[in-house]
Amino acid sequence: MKDRKNSSERERFSTGLAVFFATLSSTVGLGNIWKFPYLTGKYGGGAFLIIYFLCVVFVALPVMISEMFIGRKTRKNAIGAIKALTGRRFWKIIGYMGILSAFFILFFYSAVAGWVYSYIFKAIAGQFGGASMERMGDIFGKTVTGPLPPIIWQIVAIVVVSTILLFGVKKGIERITKLLMPVLLILIIICDIRALSLPGAMDGIRFLFKVDFSMVTKEIVLMALGLSFFKLSLGMGTIITYGSYFTQDNNMFATSGKVALSDTIVSLLAGLAIFPAVFSFGLKPEQGPGLLFMTIPLVFSKIPLGGLLVVLFFILTAIAATTAMMSIFEVVITFISEEKKIPRRKAVIITAVVVMLFGFPAALSANNVSLLSNVKLFGNTFFNFFDSVSSNILLPLGGLLIVLFVGYFQHRQVVRDELSNYGALNNRGLIKIYLFLLRYITPLLLVIVFLSMVGII
Ligand code: TRP
Repeated sequence: MKDRKNSSERERFSTGLAVFFATLSSTVGLGNIWKFPYLTGKYGGGAFLIIYFLCVVFVALPVMISEMFIGRKTRKNAIGAIKALTGRRFWKIIGYMGILSAFFILFFYSAVAGWVYSYIFKAIAGQFGGASMERMGDIFGKTVTGPLPPIIWQIVAIVVVSTILLFGVKKGIERITKLLMPVLLILIIICDIRALSLPGAMDGIRFLFKVDFSMVTKEIVLMALGLSFFKLSLGMGTIITYGSYFTQDNNMFATSGKVALSDTIVSLLAGLAIFPAVFSFGLKPEQGPGLLFMTIPLVFSKIPLGGLLVVLFFILTAIAATTAMMSIFEVVITFISEEKKIPRRKAVIITAVVVMLFGFPAALSANNVSLLSNVKLFGNTFFNFFDSVSSNILLPLGGLLIVLFVGYFQHRQVVRDELSNYGALNNRGLIKIYLFLLRYITPLLLVIVFLSMVGII
């Protein structure tokens, strides 16, 4: 019965630092190291970056604080939390949409995590030593084309995540991330230094920071918005679930600011390692999902002890991907176990099996020579369908509902009390700004993006 904790017995992160690292362990993942660089490359660099930053400040941060508020106020899973804050059934849709996005993300995320796992072993086998761009292309192609390798590695990723989750929130999440996050950062910085001294590196920097708004389209804005939700784990209840484990004295403005900033720094550092290499080795920035996998091993091949460091890099990236995946699983599992009263262990296993079944088609459609690349859902491959429906529709829509819910359907005083830790924090000004963004700016921006997407604006 110990699986069925009620809200007052739930575990909590032990300190403020633990809260910060745990949240970071959800936000820093493939979104930073894989998706951010390849989307920045695909959508033209600097201008995309600026739009991304604006999305973080004016949309993502208000959503993040709102999710923390909902979670810590109620100390429940995403759906239970919403239920506890309102009698209106309508709002439960936030939770249900969240479960759907969680599954959609896991379907393709587990495939990409699988590629990372396989790269650990390729690195150990020394496959990248003295490799050329062409050879890296071959290796990546073999990794994603299938039929068997992508699926086997995807299963590995899913099994690792579920095994860790069977040990519980605190032990699993806190211990791993506190130790390893800084090591990953150091490795990325080593990569940066080497990449920046490659011949032609400056073209990469120019690409990353040259701002040309003339190329910006509606699609690019939508992509940047979706990426800000994806990278910061927003719009589907992950941060609600994490907030439910926060300590009561946590300063949630400070935590969200620090998390957003650190997450952005990790992404930029990844970009600074990848783009110089892209230009130096003659790759195209708009290369797509293979970008990380084709550049990073090449950069390491030019570093003393690179053969060893590249193993370490993929191990740590696998860990970042795994902890991020754990946070997505967590949303589904706390829901199944707390709302449906199914023991936690069983919930983990059910989730893992569903992710495998639907994850396989995603893994088998990741590139244009994959087995299922010709099967289309609404004009997309499975991989792209799960990715774009979650990032570009479900997460921002969830975010919109969350800000409307907290902005218009919660007592302002309740929000003020929770965010000021019942007067312990002196942050009235911040709360005012937050409430203003929440009620007027953030929803407006989201609605504008949605309307322009369906062609009304
Ligand atoms: N933010 C993670 C990353 O960048 C992925 C992730 C974890 C996520 N939890 C989420 C994305 C919740 C959306 C919603 O890799």
